[in-house]
Amino acid sequence: MKGTILILAVTIQCIVKENNGSKFLSNYLKKLRAEEVSHKERITKMSLKIGVIIGSNRPGRNAIKVAEWFKEQTDKYESMDFDFVDLAELDLPFMNEPDYPSAENYQFDYTKSWSKQVKSWDGVIIITPEYNRGIPAVLKNAIDYLYNEWNKKPLGLVSYGSALGYRSSADLHIIAVELQMAAIREQVAINIWQHLNEKGEFVGDEHIEKKAVTMLDQLKWWAEALRTAREQ
Ligand SMILES: Cc1cc2nc3c(=O)[nH]c(=O)nc-3n(C[C@H](O)[C@H](O)[C@H](O)COP(=O)(O)O)c2cc1C
Repeated sequence: MKGTILILAVTIQCIVKENNGSKFLSNYLKKLRAEEVSHKERITKMSLKIGVIIGSNRPGRNAIKVAEWFKEQTDKYESMDFDFVDLAELDLPFMNEPDYPSAENYQFDYTKSWSKQVKSWDGVIIITPEYNRGIPAVLKNAIDYLYNEWNKKPLGLVSYGSALGYRSSADLHIIAVELQMAAIREQVAINIWQHLNEKGEFVGDEHIEKKAVTMLDQLKWWAEALRTAREQ
């Protein structure tokens, strides 16, 4: 879009020179420049939409408690919109699309609807536990269904487990490279057992709250920058 406007502008500038500066054409150029500025302003003002994936699905999971706490943090963060997706509710079957995801030749309605939802996001946050030093199968399955939809978007992580979910984060950082995602440096890493009280309720603290804000700040910067780049 920007390229087309530039070529058009240069061509018109040449015509203006040749015609000894026709007023009509120079006004037209001004209008084009103004339109370009307002296009940029429109993009900046549009609210960023961030998908938040709840990455485990077993009955009795702690994921819901972590997600509820994280929802409280995102509710306080008013400058982005958050779209929470529970993989237990999404309930995708074991990956059964016959074509490669990058072809986007989806056969099944559940894939088409998952694709549409992820496409609408400007960034992604994954809430992931650690299962046997890696991410849960249900999460990898949901990721593998799509390809282009993840591209050129930032990825933030909220990980938890006995070892703070760091091995799952490492998994997701490698996966992010293949998906052409920008992994955010700051992450929320939670020792799940230290944050559950005697009733089994999740209890946050200042440390993880601050981590959440920094991660969201960094994600916002990348989401804005990459949305602008994707639009050009
Ligand atoms: C199948 C399974 C494997 C696990 N493996 C690990 C592990 O390798 N490292 C770790 O820190 N915690 C491990 N845990 C503990 C989980 O991180 C912790 O129970 C967490 O709450 C699991 O997430 P969920 O409750 O949302 O399913 C494991 C839990 C399960 C169920």
